[in-house]
Amino acid sequence: MSKASTAVNQNVSKSYKLETDKGSFDLPVYSPTNGPDVMDVTKLYGETGLFTYDPGFASTASCESKITFIDGEEGILRYRGYDIADLAANCTFMEVARLLIYGELPNKKEKETFENQITYHTMVHEQMHFFYRGFRRDAHPMAIMVGVVGALSSFYHDSLDITNPEHRELSTHRLIAKMATLAAMTYKYAVGQPFIYPRNDLSYTENFLHMCFSVPSEPYVVNPTVASAMRRIFILHADHEQNASTSTVRLAGSSGANPFACIAAGIASLWGPAHGGANEAVLTMLDEIGSKENIPEFVKKAKDKNDPFRLMGFGHRVYKNYDPRAKVMQESCHQVLKELGVNDPKLELAMELERLALEDDYFAEKKLYPNVDFYSGIILKAIGFPTSMFTVLFALARTVGWISQWREMIEDPRQRIGRPRQLYTGEGERKFVPLSKR
Ligand code: ACO
Repeated sequence: MSKASTAVNQNVSKSYKLETDKGSFDLPVYSPTNGPDVMDVTKLYGETGLFTYDPGFASTASCESKITFIDGEEGILRYRGYDIADLAANCTFMEVARLLIYGELPNKKEKETFENQITYHTMVHEQMHFFYRGFRRDAHPMAIMVGVVGALSSFYHDSLDITNPEHRELSTHRLIAKMATLAAMTYKYAVGQPFIYPRNDLSYTENFLHMCFSVPSEPYVVNPTVASAMRRIFILHADHEQNASTSTVRLAGSSGANPFACIAAGIASLWGPAHGGANEAVLTMLDEIGSKENIPEFVKKAKDKNDPFRLMGFGHRVYKNYDPRAKVMQESCHQVLKELGVNDPKLELAMELERLALEDDYFAEKKLYPNVDFYSGIILKAIGFPTSMFTVLFALARTVGWISQWREMIEDPRQRIGRPRQLYTGEGERKFVPLSKR
């Protein structure tokens, strides 16, 4: 298998001594470009017979990566070293995609070449239409996406050899291009309108809006404010280092599974309400709250240990500060609602909820701030997407990050199948009892 020579960059800065009853062992410590030092425990089991225990991976770096950096305490998010706010303000989604995949912002020529490579693959196999017809009309769009993205591997046998760099390249382009078409088809299927073919004269974002909202009977003009908001949403969601869905993609890929199957696994993981499903949950919560007078009651419920209710769109495993994506999203939200002349009382309700929660000691002490999902749902609703589509849009954007991380993993010379161990607390050995004696 071809491995990129740049993957290993471990800088051993020091080592820690671990005292065990079998003796003392040195554990090397690596210094990253940014962020906390990382202690290498790969030889721990071989040398000491000990496992580490870290459910939820709160203290575990599962891989080395050069793609995305997050400082949760300071509220920093960077793709390949560039601040997320700069990228969201200045780049197209395809520029950011190219940056995440290949490591550098493209020049004009590289940008055009990459855009051509993607647009060349925007159509899906005609047979794919029949897949959609097999789903119930009321199927959740994420259920459809898990199915149709996984099914891509049955169409593209010419790009499934993960050891071949050309195949990996082709699958990368196909996945990014076809995700927009499949996501739009999922929406069209749900609303009972005909599928709309892609238009390669439009930008990636404009084409996606065209495939979602145009109908064969009328001309459709993409609103530039809406396209810009969509572009920003895609950029903000494109990658977020080793979160649950990305780790799922890496773990699935570590066994040698093809990239279409791995991305389908990522989509399944993203579906959960604690991850990508949260912006849908924010709108449901705002509906439930109903009006400003009820906010204190819901804030009280969120603080009550015996009540399972949580403020959706608040808190994050990594950010212990304002999520930098939420800032951009709040600004976009105001712009879109103004441009579209939408007077959504949910925006006011959300802002009041944010204000009251941020003033509350519980949220301050636990460092719970609005995350990216807090405002994105309001924007997407104003653009015209049903709530069930929100996570699909997230999956579309995150495909760029998933595929970048998958490629990095495949090219890492130390890549092995991911195989965590466990702390077994079940029964010890038991004598088998035949059915007649149980
Ligand atoms: N409302 C009320 N209390 C909360 C919230 C919340 N939204 N989030 C965390 N807490 C509390 C927890 O009850 C816990 O309290 P404790 O210390 O007294 O036990 C403490 O804050 C720490 O929370 P954890 O659940 O341990 O944090 P974790 O890192 O495991 O969870 C998560 C992070 C899942 C995002 C959580 O904050 C949450 O459920 N938020 C709401 C869902 C949401 O918005 N998810 C989107 C995340 S962003 C994304 O995926 C794109």
